[in-house]
Amino acid sequence: MTAQNETLTVLYDGGCPLCRREIAHVQGLAKQCESSALCFVDISSEAAGSVTDAAERQALLARFHVQRSDGSRLSGAAAFTAMWSRLPGWRWLARLARLPGILTLLEGAYRVFLKLRPGLQWLARRWDAQPASRASTLSKYLERELRSDHAGETGAVFIYRGITAVARWRRDEQLLAFAQQHGDTEAEHLSLIEAWLPPSRRSRLLGPWRLAGWLTGALPALAGRRAVYGTIAAVETFVDRHYQQQIDHLRAHGGPDGLLPLLERCQADECHHRDEAAALAGERRPGLLRLWCAVVGSGSAAAVVLARRV
Ligand SMILES: [Fe+2]
Ligand SMILES: [Fe+2]
Repeated sequence: MTAQNETLTVLYDGGCPLCRREIAHVQGLAKQCESSALCFVDISSEAAGSVTDAAERQALLARFHVQRSDGSRLSGAAAFTAMWSRLPGWRWLARLARLPGILTLLEGAYRVFLKLRPGLQWLARRWDAQPASRASTLSKYLERELRSDHAGETGAVFIYRGITAVARWRRDEQLLAFAQQHGDTEAEHLSLIEAWLPPSRRSRLLGPWRLAGWLTGALPALAGRRAVYGTIAAVETFVDRHYQQQIDHLRAHGGPDGLLPLLERCQADECHHRDEAAALAGERRPGLLRLWCAVVGSGSAAAVVLARRV
């Protein structure tokens, strides 16, 4: 038994989807109860400084452990019981485990669970990878932003299809290579975002976004390469700011695992597109192109506002 005021460190496997779910629930309960004296260390992370030995880490990952303040460790059912004794709504189970034979029974059940664990982890990972499941982890704010990102990336794919169509017609190999290279990256962004947003949560105006995207690419392509490069620089300047707002939000408020790196990756690609297009467009741009770019910039902003809602 552990003294109620003794700090217990829960050593959990943050790489396991089952452990992550359970610990997120336990952390919520521990927050409700200031006297729980529980702290949590993800031992799957290299940053778990107290565990430097690889064999020790493997042993800790193989079974659930709780570390006492003197450094000794409880494992399996004994560790669960110590943790439950600190949690509102779970203390009765910890008391029950003190009855003769119950801890042995719980340990037996835990060992059966360990045998089933790899299969359950596989199922949980598959479930986590589904768009519907991922979308359920999004706040209302993030869902709306991702809907606008999805609409934007759809538009981006079609911008390059519009450019490609005109470049083929004009037999402009340089413009064709530019459009195909950028278009491949946009198609990748689109599929990454689709993995977060099931069809039922996407914008209902995807048809208009495709058409608007296609025209935003094809019209300047009719005017020539520099108009295309100027247009792309204007669009990507807007997209960079749009992603930055979401990245700032996630850094400040947190969010589901994997979303921040995804947005950072998309933003880095967009900035690369912007800089490449701006360099190709050159410093001096005709007045008509500047006007067109201003229209494209405000059109993108209006589309984002609409796509968040519809
Ligand atoms: Fe993109
Ligand atoms: Fe882009």
